[in-house]
Amino acid sequence: GSEVDAANRPSPFLNIAHRGASGHAPENTFAAFDKAVKMKADFFELDVQRSKDGHLVVIHDITVDRTTNGTGRIADLTLKELKRLDAGSWFGSAFAGERIPTLKEVLDRYGGKGIGILIELKNPERYPGMEAEVALLLAQKNLDKRTSKIIVQSFNHDVMKNYHRLQPTVPAGVLVRYTPEGISDEALREFSAYADYVNPNLRLVNHDLVQRVHQNGMRITPYTIKTKNEAQRMIAAGVDGIITDYPELVTLR
Ligand code: G3P
Ligand code: CA
Repeated sequence: GSEVDAANRPSPFLNIAHRGASGHAPENTFAAFDKAVKMKADFFELDVQRSKDGHLVVIHDITVDRTTNGTGRIADLTLKELKRLDAGSWFGSAFAGERIPTLKEVLDRYGGKGIGILIELKNPERYPGMEAEVALLLAQKNLDKRTSKIIVQSFNHDVMKNYHRLQPTVPAGVLVRYTPEGISDEALREFSAYADYVNPNLRLVNHDLVQRVHQNGMRITPYTIKTKNEAQRMIAAGVDGIITDYPELVTLR
């Protein structure tokens, strides 16, 4: 039943599992990504940062404190130190032993195998050059084609501009935080020079914004949808997909 589905859009509706199916399994782990696959999400989202010794690792916060049994900043820990940590127990004992994945491990396990991967460059201002490192890794893994089902996004729009310049074949997204002023036409025009996706906080989304994003030739997949009501409101506004902790919400539309 899709009474209010995203009709008349050329692209299919994207059900994107936020940090994996993070309502059901510990965020940014294989358990959460496996769950997204099992739930038939179209994509999963993940957050990339960089270890002290230069490895791209998949974790959301600046520190390991909330989602592992360790403490300290990602940037101050080596990959070996990060790999010792338990990234699952905080969510539930059934997930004990989950590890912080590297981006390389995630691409090897899930890249080009059906599910898409939405890669967020997290805090890139702390990790100079990270966009070039992600671009190189995607090229090495042959995941740098328009058809690779990879999207790269960030809140840092300068970094996204540079990423697009380095790797124009991979769709780019701009994340936009909530502000009461919303998103101007001028900002949308600027985004359209390098981005394929505008991914705003769901509070910014209404039918007018969706239309203006589409008029500027981009798609819109807002974050972070957590309830059925939110999913229905987004779909009614005409979005191209949602980034959600609960991929099962989309079948409720
Ligand atoms: O993908 C959008 C969303 O992940 C951005 O916010 O804090 O969950 O990374 P955050
Ligand atoms: Ca994110």
